[in-house]
Amino acid sequence: MKIFLDTADLAEIRRASEAGLIDGITTNPSLIAQVAGDADPRGIFLSICEAVDGPVSAEVVALDGEGMVREGYKLAKIHDNIVVKTPLTEHGLRACRSLRAEGIRVNVTLCFSAVQAILAAKAGATYISPFVGRMDDVGQSGMGLVEEIRSVYDEYGIETEVLAASLRHPRHVHEAMLIGADCATLPPKVLYQLLKHPLTDRGL
Ligand code: E4P
Repeated sequence: MKIFLDTADLAEIRRASEAGLIDGITTNPSLIAQVAGDADPRGIFLSICEAVDGPVSAEVVALDGEGMVREGYKLAKIHDNIVVKTPLTEHGLRACRSLRAEGIRVNVTLCFSAVQAILAAKAGATYISPFVGRMDDVGQSGMGLVEEIRSVYDEYGIETEVLAASLRHPRHVHEAMLIGADCATLPPKVLYQLLKHPLTDRGL
């Protein structure tokens, strides 16, 4: 399973990348705003891409399909590592299809059901991001959703990669791994929690 770091914090990205712990990065507009404020985020994306040898998800903020495609092209031009993130809406899936036709990789985000996930696959999504923690927050089973998507994609031979997102603790990562998610994205805090075990400390 590939491990992505869910942050735009360059110091955290360099630390994890230099230790060889991560395969890529995911960001979202809130994470970018935390480091860029109102400034143009392109510089941030470029620095992230230069710090990591792997996919870097950069999300569009437009809500209409044409606006998303325009933004997606601009983002993709920043660096070959960029994967454009579009939301799981009609406009988002239209934008996904257009961007994929130009060979741009797309991470379809904000997925909360297996039927949404199959529509994203039909639009050519490179990655589908089910949000586990946010499902749990409303009393539904986030990991159950990852399991359903895995099974449906396997059943129909769909190549879109399942990217378990909104992971809040090591148990989420463990379960996503056992279910067979292709990738998991986690905040820095959870990444370092994965390293910890009391018996390792005692052994030292
Ligand atoms: C990843 O692509 C998402 O932006 C992220 O995992 C969302 O996590 P949250 O639900 O903790 O905001």
